[in-house]
Amino acid sequence: MKLTEKHSRRYNDLAHKIIKHHKVQEMKQYVQHGNVTVYDHVNAVAHTAFMLAHVLSINVNEKVLIEGALLHDFFGYDWHKDKVKRRLFDMHGFTHARRARQRAVNHFNIDRHTQHVIESHMWPLTLRSLPRTKEAILVCVADKIVSTKETLRIGKHKRRRH
Ligand SMILES: [Fe+2]
Ligand SMILES: [Fe+2]
Repeated sequence: MKLTEKHSRRYNDLAHKIIKHHKVQEMKQYVQHGNVTVYDHVNAVAHTAFMLAHVLSINVNEKVLIEGALLHDFFGYDWHKDKVKRRLFDMHGFTHARRARQRAVNHFNIDRHTQHVIESHMWPLTLRSLPRTKEAILVCVADKIVSTKETLRIGKHKRRRH
């Protein structure tokens, strides 16, 4: 499914400020799933969340939705390579949303709604961080859709090699 030209322009205008930041560009160095970088992953999540809002005609704060989605995995390390810090690796699923929120606050002027989108995206794993806004729910759902697609793609590549 594709965005209309108008929505596409709106998306790019809002995403640009975050994407061009050097700390976000650094996310190209980190792997999310398989050969997908964290940078590609967050862009796919932002695009999917934005698309879902339009397809389902959900009236959202687009700035909060896109900025929250682009920064939802702004944790700033490679969670695959971090074997030395074994505890961090094991706890990544539970801790990275909080860390991403804190880093996003340190580098960007984001409001509490955007912070909530970031902090609640791992629900239900992080049981007490329930997404309570439309933007947070859309990003949480979009993250699951994109992560599932990325994981299935890894399985496909592995099966082909055998
Ligand atoms: Fe995440
Ligand atoms: Fe994610």
